This record gives sequence, C-alpha cells and structure tokens, in this order.
Amino acid sequence: MNRYRAVAEYYDPEHERMEMLRHDVPFFLDSLPKRKRLSILELCSGTGRATIPMAQAGHRVVGVERDPAMLAIAVRKRDAVGLKERELKLLRGDVLTMNLRQKFDRVCIFFNTMLAFTTIEQQDRFLANVRRHLKPRGLFWLDIFHPDHSLLAERESRKMETSSFYVPALDRTVVRHVDVLRDMSRQWMRVTFHYKWFDRRGLERRESAAVEMTAIFPRELQLLLERTGFRIDRLCGNYNASPLRSESPRMIASCRLA
Ligand SMILES: C[S@@+](CC[C@H](N)C(=O)[O-])C[C@H]1O[C@@H](n2cnc3c(N)ncnc32)[C@H](O)[C@@H]1O
Repeated sequence: MNRYRAVAEYYDPEHERMEMLRHDVPFFLDSLPKRKRLSILELCSGTGRATIPMAQAGHRVVGVERDPAMLAIAVRKRDAVGLKERELKLLRGDVLTMNLRQKFDRVCIFFNTMLAFTTIEQQDRFLANVRRHLKPRGLFWLDIFHPDHSLLAERESRKMETSSFYVPALDRTVVRHVDVLRDMSRQWMRVTFHYKWFDRRGLERRESAAVEMTAIFPRELQLLLERTGFRIDRLCGNYNASPLRSESPRMIASCRLA
C-alpha cells in the first residue's frame, strides 16, 4: 500500500476531473445542520481534498493520514488558503490504531477508502476506532462504491480508466491506465495504476503503484456496522440523495451509535 508515497504529487491533478469527486464533499456538507459549527474528523484525509472545504465552511476539522507525502501536500494547501491549525488540524497516523482522545460530531471517510481495509478483522478494528472517536449523538459518514456484479465477475480488467493529466509540481503530463485483478472468493482486488510520461530528453518513463481493496455488499455493510455497534440512519445510492437501488453507483451511509 505504498502507492501514495510514490505518486502523491499526481493525486490532485489525477482526480480533479473525476465527476463523483465534484459531488461527494458538497453532498456531505449539505447534510450538516446550517449555522452550526461542528467538530469533524476525516479519516484517511490524503491531500486535504475534503478537509479544506469543511474547514472553510466554518467547522473545526481534524484529518488523519498515514502517508507523509500526502500529508505534506495537505499542509501546503491548508497554509496556502490561509486556514489556521486550530481550524484544520492535520495529523499523521494510522486510523486502525490511533487514539486522539477526543470525540467528534461527525466522523467521515470518503472515496472508497473504507474498502482499503480488506479483512473482517481490519474492518472491525476500523469501525471500533470510529466508535471511539464519535460523540454519543454523533454521525459516522461512509461513502463506498455499490458493487457492480458484472464487473466483479471478471477475474481481470485491463486498461480501464485511461486518462491524462498535467502535474504542475513536476511540470509533467502523465498518461494513466488502471488494471484490476480480482479474487472474489476473498472479496479481494488489486488495483494497479500505470503511469507513463516523457522526460526532458524525450525518453518514455513508466511507473506503477498498487492498492489492495475489498468490495462490500449492501447487506454485509449493515451486518458489519451492526456487529460494531452502529445502525444505519440513511443509505443513499448517489449524491442526489436517491435511495440505494440496484443500478445505484454508490453506497453513502450515515450511521448512528446503536
Ligand atoms: C483514495 S485516498 C483518499 C484521500 C482523501 N480522503 C480524498 O477523499 O481525497 C486514500 C488515502 O487513505 C490513506 N490511508 C490508507 N490507509 C490508511 C490508514 N490505515 N491510516 C491512515 N491513512 C490511510 C492513503 O495514504 C491515502 O492518502
């Protein structure tokens, strides 16, 4: 899981045109009570894509991220927009083991990141740690993909999500594609990102990085949450607040302590 160390500078330009990422954080912000300042903890906060707009909306935000290169970009962006550390605290930590000794009104995790916990043991540890950081009347918000059964039936998918993007920090245009290898007996996938660009001498350069992921099915999500002491308050299938249906692309759950 070292992907983000190698290519942290790619992360923002790589994803900035991704349609779902235009909607996920605004949808979360819209769900919050108006004119009330909340304490919000974002788990696996990456380059600050979500934490910065939350803090700009007036909430007291803490982001926890394991990868120092991703965290450094988030700090750079926070400072550039003039947010203070008391408005947005960015901490290095592993969300499976950290203990901030603080409870929050909202704990959230975006962009499929809960699927990085690929075993039941990791999922239990993750959810137990969410519990530890949630106020008794707080809400836990998670946003993962709704499994597409035809895609999951393929052992391997190649050359998916081809795109190109410019990386200002490296003055480099990168072409990307994604390969996915699956073992559904373990609900396990390896997603490999392949990057290609030309250096200053015109030579083609390549690098790749992989993440492991799982898929979680709707009833399984409910059971995982219930066994760790949560109940689902609302389950949406997309960012227009539609309920989960068979064709829905997302599972966005807002959960309370049971
Ligand atoms: C897909 S990115 C999402 C970043 C950000 N939340 C967003 O929505 O743009 C996943 C992030 O989770 C981080 N991560 C993965 N496992 C983690 C863990 N156990 N503890 C803390 N961060 C973790 C990765 O380093 C990476 O920055």
